[in-house]
Amino acid sequence: MTAMADPSALEFDQVTFGYGRLPVLREASLRIAEGEFVAVVGPNGSGKTTLMRLGLGLLQPSHGVVRLFGADVSRFRDRWRLGYVPQRASAATSLPVSVAEVVRTGLAGQLRPGRRGTRRHRERLEHVLDLMGLAAVRRQRLSELSGGQQQRALIARALVTGPRLLVLDEPTTGVDAEARAILRESLEHLVTVEGIAVVYVSHDPEGFAGIADRVVEVRAGRLVRVDPQAPAPTSQSV
Ligand SMILES: Nc1ncnc2c1ncn2[C@@H]1O[C@H](COP(=O)(O)OP(=O)(O)OP(=O)(O)O)[C@@H](O)[C@H]1O
Ligand SMILES: [Mg+2]
Repeated sequence: MTAMADPSALEFDQVTFGYGRLPVLREASLRIAEGEFVAVVGPNGSGKTTLMRLGLGLLQPSHGVVRLFGADVSRFRDRWRLGYVPQRASAATSLPVSVAEVVRTGLAGQLRPGRRGTRRHRERLEHVLDLMGLAAVRRQRLSELSGGQQQRALIARALVTGPRLLVLDEPTTGVDAEARAILRESLEHLVTVEGIAVVYVSHDPEGFAGIADRVVEVRAGRLVRVDPQAPAPTSQSV
């Protein structure tokens, strides 16, 4: 079946990439279906963030193809369909702006400058503030919130366009158990109710245990499927 007839949310087809001469990823392949939750694990420096940046078209593979919703990533235009929370995004949280304003910047690609947006945009903004448990702090400055609340604001920002694919790179770093539980609940809602595909990069298996359909490890530049229960992962190809 062609990619157009049966589009996956995100597909890596034999992707090779390196920043210098040495490849970080070598013929890495992975398909993430719409509505699927895939966790990506692997040691520091193994290439998880690089894989996410390739998947979002922020880096170009030297060989192989990346497809978003069936389209070659270089020709993909519907950016609203993608939500991305980069690793260590919390550097942005010192900005002197309110929670609602930060979340609203996620709509920047859809709004004309100076415009408040349509009713649908405003409804979506309310929805994601509620979903991430931020409605009560919406007028507070982002810099005055806890690390866990800030992280949730950045996730809400990634969700405000109503994306069909959400990429989270280490979303629970520095976040306490309660905030992790809220995040987990909202991710479950997004997957089961809204049918969003989620790629969740993490070193913390607790964050995705019971939600992830699959766990994939970046190992020696390749992607291997791992059994979340097994201590020693098997080298089954994905
Ligand atoms: N902009 C860059 N320029 C050159 N090399 C880079 C760059 N970004 C990453 N690398 C290298 O690519 C490799 C993979 O890095 P990457 O950030 O993808 O790893 P990671 O799996 O996300 O690690 P971590 O768990 O620490 O977040 C590392 O060896 C890293 O040093
Ligand atoms: Mg990383």
